[in-house]
Amino acid sequence: MLNKLFRTALAPRKDNAAAASPFLAHYESRFAPLLAGRAGGFREIFRRLEARCAARAEPGLIIETGSMRAVGNWAGDGQSTVLWKEFASIHDCEVHSVDLDPEATRVVREECGDAVQAVTGDSVRYLYDFANSPQARQIDVLYLDSYDFVPENPFPSAFHHIKELIAVRPCLGPGSIVAIDDNFPFSEGGWTGKGYLAMEWFKHLGIPFAHQGHQFVWQL
Ligand SMILES: C[S@@+](CC[C@H](N)C(=O)[O-])C[C@H]1O[C@@H](n2cnc3c(N)ncnc32)[C@H](O)[C@@H]1O
Repeated sequence: MLNKLFRTALAPRKDNAAAASPFLAHYESRFAPLLAGRAGGFREIFRRLEARCAARAEPGLIIETGSMRAVGNWAGDGQSTVLWKEFASIHDCEVHSVDLDPEATRVVREECGDAVQAVTGDSVRYLYDFANSPQARQIDVLYLDSYDFVPENPFPSAFHHIKELIAVRPCLGPGSIVAIDDNFPFSEGGWTGKGYLAMEWFKHLGIPFAHQGHQFVWQL
């Protein structure tokens, strides 16, 4: 009995923030320092996602377009797929990642194993089929990072990403987090990037940014 009391008294006090947000604490120490310009965007995504997952019993749902295509490319591409896998090791979460390139699918399977359902295919088609399938349900994080952005020809990429958003719209509801990678400010004001047209759509609907930087993040 006395032993038990002593053990309790001597046990290290838990850091309250780390106890309340176990992934966020892990993110700050292990991943944020690697992520350069994406550290703030991912922080905002995980802060909101962790709060959602902690507040309910059913598994979360993360869907990304544009999978990790190279191992260890933290500052360049972001390694988003690895981050979802890590999150799912702490919170019960289903993770889907789609990429046009079978080599990216292979890399995801090798790096993430069963934690991520990796699919080869066109993202717009994939999202539309998902939204119309029996497994359709509300998405917690929709991370759009497919069709590469070319500054000299910005429209095709921005157009592709708004098509993704339209395709999966039935699976977005109150609280869903939508993020689009690779956005760039103009020195004279305004933005360009993968999320340019989506930004106009969200603005029209009066949905404010949760984060505006290299990644655009909104929460419905
Ligand atoms: C920037 S990389 C994704 C990086 C990854 N999200 C990360 O953080 O490491 C973009 C990927 O989008 C894929 N892609 C391009 N067009 C696509 C399309 N129509 N459908 C699905 N994936 C596409 C490319 O094959 C490429 O692997």
